[in-house]
Amino acid sequence: MTERAPWIVGVSGASGTPYAKAVLLGLLNAGHPVDLVISKAARLTLLDETGATVRDAHWKDDVATWLGENSGDLTYWPAGDLAAGPSSGSYPARGMVVVPASTAACAGIAIGLSKDLLQRAAEVNLKEHRRTVVVPRETPVTRSHLEHLLALHDAGAIVLPASPGFYGAGAAATAQQLVDFVAGKVLDALGVTHTLFARWTGELNAQRSPLGGP
Ligand SMILES: Cc1cc2nc3c(=O)[nH]c(=O)nc-3n(C[C@H](O)[C@H](O)[C@H](O)COP(=O)(O)O)c2cc1C
Repeated sequence: MTERAPWIVGVSGASGTPYAKAVLLGLLNAGHPVDLVISKAARLTLLDETGATVRDAHWKDDVATWLGENSGDLTYWPAGDLAAGPSSGSYPARGMVVVPASTAACAGIAIGLSKDLLQRAAEVNLKEHRRTVVVPRETPVTRSHLEHLLALHDAGAIVLPASPGFYGAGAAATAQQLVDFVAGKVLDALGVTHTLFARWTGELNAQRSPLGGP
């Protein structure tokens, strides 16, 4: 039997829970096992942005309702469970993405605070030199935000701001296309195949370009 080596997905309390949903579905639909940790604050943003509630005792039904489909090979760990598998470097994991990443989570991970399982698991992934992607969502940013992101970069994380591109979809881009752009960039960073956005081919969209086209 081969060892289960999931991607750990940490959802922290920044705005942008639709990014988390798109990344989770991208990983699960590509057949990857996922371990999910949702911070206490992320429950508020999740409720506010999607109406979804995720309760530790009912996570299976709640996560399936949030994702809108079968949650596949998904394991859920309560954020307060510091004895959970992902809190140890010996736990087999492929890597981790924190999406969205609050400035508080970025700070906590950068300084090794480990105030909950999300922060501890991210710190463990960094110390084990596993692929770690952090998706910050805040604007504008202070010097300390930038310093924490630099510390994460220097520790080996890929800092991938929730900053969607408008090329491809253009001015008529839907919110879902912008979400998918960021989620697709996360999956690219993890090396996971997806079709969440059309790749740049070097051809400007002639209809939208003020320069016209051939
Ligand atoms: C509705 C709502 C939206 C928020 N949006 C952001 C945000 O976009 N970025 C951010 O860094 N913090 C945001 N916060 C604040 C964080 O939730 C707060 O700093 C919290 O302590 C983060 O904790 P966590 O990192 O453990 O999830 C928001 C809070 C609420 C209630």
